[in-house]
Amino acid sequence: MDYGEALADARERTLALVAPVAQDDLDRVHSPLMSPLVWDLGHIAAFEDLWLCIRAGGLEPLRTDLMEVYDAGETPRADRGAIPYLRRDDALEYMEQVRERALAVLAGADLSPGSDRLNANGFVWDLLIQHEHQHNETMLQTLQLAEPGVFAPERAADEQAAPPMHEAVVFAEGAFEIGDGGEGFAYDNERPRHAVEFGSFAIDPAPVTNGRYAEFVADGGYARRELWTEAGWTWRDAENAAHPLYWSADGRERRFDRTEPRDDTRPVMHVSWFEADAYARWAGGRLPTEFEWERAATLLDGDRRGNLDQLDFGPGAAGPFVGDCWEWTATEFAGYPGFRAFPYPEYSEVFFGSGYRVLRGASWATRPSVARTTFRNWDHPQRRQIFAGFRCVYDVTTGDGGIR
Ligand SMILES: [Fe+2]
Repeated sequence: MDYGEALADARERTLALVAPVAQDDLDRVHSPLMSPLVWDLGHIAAFEDLWLCIRAGGLEPLRTDLMEVYDAGETPRADRGAIPYLRRDDALEYMEQVRERALAVLAGADLSPGSDRLNANGFVWDLLIQHEHQHNETMLQTLQLAEPGVFAPERAADEQAAPPMHEAVVFAEGAFEIGDGGEGFAYDNERPRHAVEFGSFAIDPAPVTNGRYAEFVADGGYARRELWTEAGWTWRDAENAAHPLYWSADGRERRFDRTEPRDDTRPVMHVSWFEADAYARWAGGRLPTEFEWERAATLLDGDRRGNLDQLDFGPGAAGPFVGDCWEWTATEFAGYPGFRAFPYPEYSEVFFGSGYRVLRGASWATRPSVARTTFRNWDHPQRRQIFAGFRCVYDVTTGDGGIR
């Protein structure tokens, strides 16, 4: 990979996302769930200085005073409005200065397999590019949460794909290898690859659509206590939830600046894990484990991709496993057997075993470098800002037809 080119491409996208946003809207907090957008900008640069210039390149920090301000672990999102982060022009300048240093380090870096562990095979360079890509998606979540006037993206022409199939696909019991095999870039939490034992299961070939979800709503899904877990019912009560986050009662859905009639062929999105779980019970199924999801995605989809890379500003018709929307799974986020944190425990290890649920796949707002069947995303079960939907699985007894 040409890392200079990939870094430039990542930066071009970051700047394109914030270009149409007014300075005030960059600098302020739009939701207590999210950082001010300009914090993301400074953080992208500080992370680059830390990993490329300081750790991989052996340089001193460019701005020691900023390292704590932009340390995601030190400063929870809810507090980021109150810290002395750089405002737009200063943040943009800091980004540029760090990038210049990083490119100088890259020019002298040894990325051969025998190099130090950070530089070998370009690991830390891939990490940096993925990090910026992942923040682009977080920034889009913030822009979607913001008031409709804040962000009015130019949409590409909307291509309508064929409607999805509805027949669940059956998988036989047995062992299957899960996790990253170690050839390309992957995060520590995707490894080590290991064998997992499965019972037989049937899985939806596509995420649940707006149309199907509307049937759940119309059937009193939000009012039927028996469909919800105790925590889910408590959440539903506290939120007074009656439909997905950006739906309106008159059958429309908001995406950024536009509120338009809901498209019932698109995957339902912006539901919490609790809503997904209740729907699955209503449909006579359950949420897949993350391993069921990965096994099915690997065998059914291969390299097939749904809508990715942000520029359509919405999902396509519900279909593939990777693309359009993230998918909630039943699994609580934890390390695989033999997990070792690398290069730092704050990426994922500190979140293990704390009630986070794993999401799989990728959304329309995910850049393609991040979209792989072994990638693990995670969030609190009550969160709805992620571009996330879900699909269901059903338990079957061996002997049912269509077994793979
Ligand atoms: Fe980050």
